[in-house]
Amino acid sequence: MIKIQNASKSYVKNKKAVDNLDLEIKDGEIFGFLGPNGAGKTTTIKMITGILKIDQGDILIEGKSITKKPVEAKKSFGFVPDSPDMFLKLKGIEYLNFIADIYEIDNIKRKKRIEELTKKFEIYNDLNNEIESYSHGMRQKILICGALLNNPKNWILDEPMTGLDPKSSYDLKEMMKEHAKEGNSVFFSTHILEVAEKLCDRVGIINDGKLIFVGTLDELRNKLKENKSLEELFLEMIKTS
Ligand SMILES: Nc1ncnc2c1ncn2[C@@H]1O[C@H](COP(=O)(O)OP(=O)(O)OP(=O)(O)O)[C@@H](O)[C@H]1O
Ligand SMILES: [Mg+2]
Repeated sequence: MIKIQNASKSYVKNKKAVDNLDLEIKDGEIFGFLGPNGAGKTTTIKMITGILKIDQGDILIEGKSITKKPVEAKKSFGFVPDSPDMFLKLKGIEYLNFIADIYEIDNIKRKKRIEELTKKFEIYNDLNNEIESYSHGMRQKILICGALLNNPKNWILDEPMTGLDPKSSYDLKEMMKEHAKEGNSVFFSTHILEVAEKLCDRVGIINDGKLIFVGTLDELRNKLKENKSLEELFLEMIKTS
């Protein structure tokens, strides 16, 4: 469970990139965070994960405040950032072992989990190569494997389908469903409305830093019929997806 309590963030004076965001991601749900470019999705995710300091408000993960108990809060989520160009000088296996060390996963468990995840994403045979030699999609996949290694309760993913081939994208979506079905939370951002439609229990729409809709897709469809400006934003998002 992730509770965002009136969180705000400004990069520059008098312009809130995220403005008083209040949102709860429940156990057992897949929540899609939608919005056009520059809306505040990544900023929100960076606040949840403790990468950015929150100006006002707080965020609780499994009841632990990311500002007051950052280490405890960080134990209960896995995070996949929007850009996978990290740890390029490490071999895939070195990166995954590094993550397993941080989470203190024992040797037998880590070996099994690394094999399971990397075979699923078809990068098992690339683990002895440096991440620098990986394609964009392969880098994305190794980060996903790292984020899921510890089997965290909450998954937080920023544009996770970008760069994945159809099979990997399908596999990840199936894994998200399975994870939610087991009573865990999945929070991900996307511009791709089609993905959200098929996958999400609920969606939130952020525009210009403000949350302008939260609800199920059925509720969204009804709202679109009666709210012209939301419909226009929606059409704009479809164009850019
Ligand atoms: N490091 C930064 N310094 C200054 N302004 C920033 C910074 N990062 C983001 N912003 C601004 O904050 C706002 C929200 O950006 P954010 O990256 O959260 O959007 P987003 O919804 O993730 O967009 P996208 O769909 O393009 O990924 C934008 O106006 C952006 O210009
Ligand atoms: Mg972003």
